[in-house]
Amino acid sequence: MTSSAAPTETLLTVEDLHSFYGKSHILHGVSLSVGRGEVVGLLGRNGVGKSTTLKTIMGLVSPSQGKVLFEGKAITGMPAHKIARLGVAYVPEDRRIFKLLTVMENLRTGLDRQGVTEARKQELLDKLFEYFPRLAERRSQPGGTLSGGEQQMLAIGRAMMLEPKIILLDEPTEGLMPRMVSQISEIIEALHKEGVAILLVEQNVPLTLASSQRVYFMEKGVVRHHAVASELEVNDPIIHQYLGV
Ligand SMILES: Nc1ncnc2c1ncn2[C@@H]1O[C@H](COP(=O)(O)OP(=O)(O)O)[C@@H](O)[C@H]1O
Ligand SMILES: [Mg+2]
Repeated sequence: MTSSAAPTETLLTVEDLHSFYGKSHILHGVSLSVGRGEVVGLLGRNGVGKSTTLKTIMGLVSPSQGKVLFEGKAITGMPAHKIARLGVAYVPEDRRIFKLLTVMENLRTGLDRQGVTEARKQELLDKLFEYFPRLAERRSQPGGTLSGGEQQMLAIGRAMMLEPKIILLDEPTEGLMPRMVSQISEIIEALHKEGVAILLVEQNVPLTLASSQRVYFMEKGVVRHHAVASELEVNDPIIHQYLGV
């Protein structure tokens, strides 16, 4: 850590996580941490277990071994909806928006929570529509009629409606056009400024290095290396070693 980096309180800790799909041993002891308000990148080739790591943190895959701590409390093995209620949002790779529901109805699924006043809901929507004017324009359209990039915005927007402390974001820019990619990178920056932590799985190395404070490199179900993002170049040998680009 550089001397200029303020010590951050740890928000999420993953310790020695092992996960299986049936008999296939996929995670072989993943350990990582995310500080409060920190953006952390998780890089690695296809199939190394990045998505499985996010799913295991979120309680969608039960680990056979290891621990997940959120704000110091063990959440390992808790059901996903309870983990979500603690302030962990998850935006999966396939986005999983409701295609038949309108944009507004999709956002409502995140807003209609206990203890959120109508005024607060409106505030959250106003802020979101400021970031994503396209969603405002399309608020009455079914989610399935949106472009890929707009669906990604909607998926992130729905996560934001939950006012999470951390967002687990799985390849948000996958398959998007450059203009949309830069919008995603802007929203990551905006969330960071608001103090929302992000665990960002990506294939886009420049975006990950620009958006994150630290990055982890995964290989074959374990984290092999971690680095301060600002100390890495896009063409660093480490990047080449773990991503082959
Ligand atoms: N539902 C599943 N059932 C069986 N194997 C899976 C399943 N999902 C992923 N895998 C396998 O687990 C490994 C890790 O997958 P994944 O976590 O999606 O990797 P990444 O996100 O890094 O590309 C891959 O070999 C993949 O084929
Ligand atoms: Mg994946």
